[in-house]
Amino acid sequence: MLAPTEKTATAIDPVALRRAFGTFLTGVTVITTRDTDGAPRGMTANSFTSVSLDPPLLLVCVGKSAHSYDAFNSSDSFAVNLLHEAQTDVSNLFASKAANKFDTVNHDRIHTGAPVLTDCLTWFDCSVHSRVDAGDHLVLIGEVQAFGTSPSAPLGFCRGRYANVKDPLPPGWLESHGMIVGYLIEADGNLLLRSDGKGGWVLPSAKRRIADKELKLDGGDALTLVPDDTFLYSVFDVSDRDPGYLIYRARLAQEAASQPLSAGLRFFPIDQLPYDQIPTREISSMLRRYARESASKRFGIYMDSDDGGRLAMVGDAQPWANLPQI
Ligand SMILES: Cc1cc2nc3c(=O)[nH]c(=O)nc-3n(C[C@H](O)[C@H](O)[C@H](O)COP(=O)(O)O)c2cc1C
Repeated sequence: MLAPTEKTATAIDPVALRRAFGTFLTGVTVITTRDTDGAPRGMTANSFTSVSLDPPLLLVCVGKSAHSYDAFNSSDSFAVNLLHEAQTDVSNLFASKAANKFDTVNHDRIHTGAPVLTDCLTWFDCSVHSRVDAGDHLVLIGEVQAFGTSPSAPLGFCRGRYANVKDPLPPGWLESHGMIVGYLIEADGNLLLRSDGKGGWVLPSAKRRIADKELKLDGGDALTLVPDDTFLYSVFDVSDRDPGYLIYRARLAQEAASQPLSAGLRFFPIDQLPYDQIPTREISSMLRRYARESASKRFGIYMDSDDGGRLAMVGDAQPWANLPQI
């Protein structure tokens, strides 16, 4: 009689098994690290699993035949970049054997130094917690050191094909995550800020995102915006003590320029923003970057953080119509 392992080995057809595994609907990630020369390395992987919240652990499985296996096996850090629905090209690139995968894909160092893709759905920057040898794969368990996320729709994968995931942001998601929806509202080189009543200036906020051209701010003011010119600028989570921020950039419609504003609202020239009176350091640093980018009319996608910590970014400026509506 065959020993159980031999029996298993002969009974299981790997091609059929791969097909059966492939019926599990997953997201798609690009896992990245640096080789011993410091060069960025990466591959598409859907074997990502969240493992533990305390400590914060996740895992991915790296095939031993992958060209980047040695890099993942020897590095003490790696990043997992979850892809959004418009990134099938990035997935295909990182699933290839191309030698220059990072030539056309922007990436940043955030915390550990592992390459974090500038544009992605969500990223986790990890130190290696442990490695488990598992057949033809290495199970790489990471401890999350920093992460960021965006409200884009995820890219899905099932039965060897990309799948669309509808409705990524269920109604009430922002509220349940305690996120502040802030607005960068520009008018003729000026930016609208709201007094916090304590000598500081904050971004005007609204209860929710809207698709039409009227924006109702918290506090009661209703502003008329240039239609189809609102885009998601930044999403970030500053610290445990503060809620996260979801920040849109919008332009005031010409006809609304003479509209009276309530006392707490004031337009400041973008090149003279009152940085010293902005109480949240991350907002102040975001405004500095916004002012730089506004001057060049080229909006970037990643926001600097002094501590390299828990800061997220979003993808390219997206037309309103492409965003999932809630
Ligand atoms: C959607 C998708 C998911 C994948 N998931 C994994 C995975 O979890 N682990 C793995 O080792 N390879 C996975 N691959 C295959 C690798 O991306 C592929 O072998 C790649 O060429 C490896 O790159 P490298 O050889 O340059 O390291 C996946 C491919 C695709 C398209």
